[in-house]
Amino acid sequence: MSGFSAEWLSLREPIDHRSRNQALQTKVLHYLAQVNTVDPRSVHITDLGSGTGSNLRALAPHLSSLQYWTLVDYDQTLLHVARSTLLAWADSEIDMPAIESLDAHSMSVKPLSILKQNKTIIVKFKRIDLLNDYPTILNEPTDLITAAAFFDLVAEPWLIKFCAFLTKPLYTVLTYDGIEKWSPPEIIDAEILKEFHQHQRTDKGFGGALGPAAAKCLQSLLHDQHFTTICAPSPWILDHQDRTLIQQLTMGTAQAIREMHAIPLAKVNQWEQSRMQASRCEIGHIDIFAHNI
Ligand SMILES: C[S@@+](CC[C@H](N)C(=O)[O-])C[C@H]1O[C@@H](n2cnc3c(N)ncnc32)[C@H](O)[C@@H]1O
Repeated sequence: MSGFSAEWLSLREPIDHRSRNQALQTKVLHYLAQVNTVDPRSVHITDLGSGTGSNLRALAPHLSSLQYWTLVDYDQTLLHVARSTLLAWADSEIDMPAIESLDAHSMSVKPLSILKQNKTIIVKFKRIDLLNDYPTILNEPTDLITAAAFFDLVAEPWLIKFCAFLTKPLYTVLTYDGIEKWSPPEIIDAEILKEFHQHQRTDKGFGGALGPAAAKCLQSLLHDQHFTTICAPSPWILDHQDRTLIQQLTMGTAQAIREMHAIPLAKVNQWEQSRMQASRCEIGHIDIFAHNI
């Protein structure tokens, strides 16, 4: 278990999808259309920290008619939910027994072939802990490495090694950048945010996490490795229509602050009660595309 529930990922999925920077996505699609892919008739994508497959559902409708996806996560439960959610999302399942023999030993969840909007999407699920096993994944032939809401969890020493090992284009979306604006504003917001950032920097499985510093650090490390990088904002803009997400976000933030034991409980509880009613809030994210040609 990773600590990310399928329910939380499902709640944020539509907001994640509408928040992704569309101009940057267009550049990625344009790039993929120009370069020589692993196989000229198809596109191969590897999604790191895939959760339940939200990134695939966002991107696949815009890609070519034959797609091979590898979803990588260390949480077996989420990979199983990914499979069932993709089946429910698909127009139909395609009977393709041959894919089961493709390196079945490393796949803990049965591969899937689906048809969605006339696109054939073949999905492999790999249960892998990226802390140590990222070279295995990065060595596999693929046209694009992608990730959503993942890189703020990692630590700088890990990211340095990851970037040094990376040779393929990377498209990562929705990395938290630390900017939060709540309406109406309250004086205590700044104190809560500062403490939340401290929590974001605690160990999320890779050593002390980069949290809000991740996007800048990733861009700089990729630049050092001679990648061309493009960054674009992808903030969540939440209003009364997103009440459930605002409430879950508020509760999650308040719980993180309580775990830090730095702000009096009464103050945190008061902030939580008031923020559950917030009329609007903006949570900053950054999307990055990096390529080396
Ligand atoms: C915030 S969730 C994002 C999930 C998905 N990309 C999305 O956008 O809905 C982070 C994901 O990274 C995965 N993850 C965290 N640490 C990992 C690790 N060491 N190896 C593989 N996956 C990991 C979690 O299991 C979780 O699915």
